[in-house]
Amino acid sequence: MKILDNKVALVTGAGSGIGLAIAKLYAKEGAKVIVSDINEEHGKSAVEDIKSTGGEATFVKADTSNPEQVEALIKATVDAYGRLDIACNNAGIGGEQATTGDYSIDSWKKVLNVNLDGVFYGCKYQLSQMEKNGGGVIVNIASIHGTVAAPLSSAYTTSKHAVVGLTKNIGVEYGQKNIRCNAVGPAYIETPLLERASGDMKEALIAKHPMGRLGKSEEVAELVLFLSSEKSSFMTGGYYLVDGGYTAV
Ligand SMILES: NC(=O)c1ccc[n+]([C@@H]2O[C@H](COP(=O)([O-])OP(=O)(O)OC[C@H]3O[C@@H](n4cnc5c(N)ncnc54)[C@H](O)[C@@H]3O)[C@@H](O)[C@H]2O)c1
Repeated sequence: MKILDNKVALVTGAGSGIGLAIAKLYAKEGAKVIVSDINEEHGKSAVEDIKSTGGEATFVKADTSNPEQVEALIKATVDAYGRLDIACNNAGIGGEQATTGDYSIDSWKKVLNVNLDGVFYGCKYQLSQMEKNGGGVIVNIASIHGTVAAPLSSAYTTSKHAVVGLTKNIGVEYGQKNIRCNAVGPAYIETPLLERASGDMKEALIAKHPMGRLGKSEEVAELVLFLSSEKSSFMTGGYYLVDGGYTAV
């Protein structure tokens, strides 16, 4: 018996990095997985990857910053597999790097639109479906920047702090409806999002982690799996770090 047998799970931004690792681990643990991404090529390749190892997955394209597409994504999930038990709102972007006084309004709006509005749209439609199911679990991917600053990325910091707040509200509002909601705060993880960083910048980032290295997507996925499973049955409204000691300094 695998820990997610008979569960239907949805992961946004599942075509790459952390989301891909989560989708693969969910499938390995027995869930039927809806792999969603704005990037069709990467999403379809993730589904092939999962199927090649004996898992079950379906790709549904959706831009999480578009509420109509997110509503359609939840409907497509139910059309494909009949219900929704687990949702991981992972899709996110970094945005431009500038001090707050120089931060462009366009980049501010874009980052908040994907990283915050997109998570709200996801939760909104997932919660309605989970209430129909009689329960469910949501895991929102925040960041260490849900609790500490990311200098030159005020939109990112703001969006991730807000995701932590949204998660707390949902935990409180749905505590007696058999729906749990938690947030995860990874430090810097080796993903395509970070591959754009220069060598010097990467070394500086590594130095901020007491463990002396960046994290791996699979290490984040293990925490998300725990929070998505019955093993965390008394945990809701929380924010859990997977940060190699970054925020302990
Ligand atoms: N990599 C890190 O160091 C790190 C650290 C902490 C938190 N995070 C968070 O983890 C999440 C995943 O990051 P990652 O590093 O795996 O990034 P990534 O760039 O490797 O993957 C992000 C995926 O999201 C998709 N995506 C982007 N915008 C989308 C949208 N509007 N709708 C649907 N899909 C969209 C992309 O196509 C991509 O497949 C993000 O929320 C990010 O903020 C990352």
